[in-house]
Amino acid sequence: MQPLLKIASIETLYYDRIYALHGLSLEVKEKEIFAVLGPNGAGKTTLLKTIAGLLKDQPKKGIIEFAGKRIQRLAPEKIARLGIVYVPEDRGLFRELTVNENLELGCWGRKGNKVKEDFEYVLALFPILKARADQQSETLSGGEQQMLAMGRAMLRRPKLLMLDEPSLGLAPKVARQVYDALSQISNAGTTILLVEQNAKMALGIADFGYIMESGRIVLEGSAKELQENEDVQELYLGLGGQDISPKGWRLYKKRRTW
Ligand SMILES: Nc1ncnc2c1ncn2[C@@H]1O[C@H](COP(=O)(O)OP(=O)(O)OP(=O)(O)O)[C@@H](O)[C@H]1O
Ligand SMILES: [Mg+2]
Repeated sequence: MQPLLKIASIETLYYDRIYALHGLSLEVKEKEIFAVLGPNGAGKTTLLKTIAGLLKDQPKKGIIEFAGKRIQRLAPEKIARLGIVYVPEDRGLFRELTVNENLELGCWGRKGNKVKEDFEYVLALFPILKARADQQSETLSGGEQQMLAMGRAMLRRPKLLMLDEPSLGLAPKVARQVYDALSQISNAGTTILLVEQNAKMALGIADFGYIMESGRIVLEGSAKELQENEDVQELYLGLGGQDISPKGWRLYKKRRTW
C-alpha cells in the first residue's frame, strides 16, 4: 500500500545557507502512529513546518507527497484543506478567546450535523474542556491547553494529525492523559505523526519511529526495534549505563553507531 505521506530527500535551508533538513526521507503509513525523536536542534519542528507549508524557506530539493499528490510549495491553507492538521509546540490557541470559542474556530468552514457529532466526540475525549467551556484559554493549565489544541485539531477531521512535542512541560500524569487520548484518536482511524523528545512515551504508543539528528534520519525501525536498540536505550531512553563508578560517574560513554 502506498504511504499516506512520503518525503524523499528534502533539503530545507534557513537564509539560503543553514541546513535544517539535510536530505531527509521518511514515510508515514495510513492509520498508524509515527514518532520522530531527536535532540534539541535536530530539525524536528522544521520538518513539521515544512510539511505544513508554513516555512518561508520551502525545500529546494526533494519530494513531499500526501495521498499521492505533491504538496510542496502549496499554500498552507491548501495543505490544511487536504487534511494535514498541525498542532504546534506552543499550541497555537487564541489566547483571549474561551475554550468554546477556540473549538468553534476549529469548525470554521464546516457545515452540517456532523459538526455537532464531532463536538460531542471531542468533549467526550477531553471532558475537562466541557467544564472549562467559558474560561479564557490563556488561563488554562498547560495540559488543558494541549487538550484544547488537540480537540480543536480533531474538529478539522484530519487525515494526518501532526503534533510537536505534545508532552512538553506537562506533569507525567497529565502527559499520560494526553497520550491516552492520542491512542484513542489513532484507534478511531486517524494517522498520527508525532515529534517528541520524550522517547519513552512516544515509542510507548508509536508503531514506527525515526531518530533524527542534525537534519537527517539516522535510524528507523518499528517502535519495538528501537526500544530494543542499545544506542536508543542509552541515548534516548535513559537506560543502560551499567558502567557507573562508586561515586556515580559514568566511566564509559557509549558512542553512537550511526
Ligand atoms: N526561523 C529560523 N531561522 C534560522 N534558523 C532556524 C530557524 N528555526 C530553526 N532554525 C535552526 O534550525 C535547526 C533546527 O531547529 P528546529 O527548531 O527544527 O529543531 P528541533 O528538533 O525542533 O529542536 P527542539 O527539540 O529544541 O524543539 C536549529 O539549528 C535552529 O537553530
Ligand atoms: Mg522543536
